[in-house]
Amino acid sequence: MNKSLVAYFSATGTTEGAANALAKAARADLYRITPAQPYSSRDLNWNNSSSRSSVEMGNDSARPALAQVAPDLSPYDVVFVGFPIWWYVEPRIVDTFLESCDLSGKAVVPFATSGSSGITRAASRMRDIVPQARVLDGRMMNDRPSTSELEAWIRGLGL
Ligand SMILES: Cc1cc2nc3c(=O)[nH]c(=O)nc-3n(C[C@H](O)[C@H](O)[C@H](O)COP(=O)(O)O)c2cc1C
Repeated sequence: MNKSLVAYFSATGTTEGAANALAKAARADLYRITPAQPYSSRDLNWNNSSSRSSVEMGNDSARPALAQVAPDLSPYDVVFVGFPIWWYVEPRIVDTFLESCDLSGKAVVPFATSGSSGITRAASRMRDIVPQARVLDGRMMNDRPSTSELEAWIRGLGL
């Protein structure tokens, strides 16, 4: 397979575990998408319509700032992008990341963890945000796939 990067955002560590497993299986470099302002547990309260995450997710064009300048993706042909599902889609900080990088001509492979929601709506939204990339359907990682399961999935992507 081509050289790949696993870039992920994780607010409470679950997606980070999935990202580590995927980077190992894909023999990929790992990059943490870090918000300039970390999310506190109060920020993550989805029961409060005024919490930071509720306000951001209620606004399609919210783009919270990243802590660092976006990475140079020129060495990579494939970028796995991981995140927790928030309100059925990818968190807006992931949109900031996607828009800050040069993803033209690259394959973008979403992966996510969630309480139960799937990844279809996120992948579709990501296609709208980076039409210059080829965004694949992606995979949920709630089933904590083994290295061999991940390797088989990656081979099946035909990258
Ligand atoms: C603001 C917010 C919104 C969420 N929305 C959803 C959702 O729509 N569907 C779902 O199944 N889980 C939802 N979750 C649960 C997270 O997707 C789940 O806990 C995820 O594994 C957390 O990953 P992390 O530890 O990497 O941040 C939400 C969590 C938060 C904080």
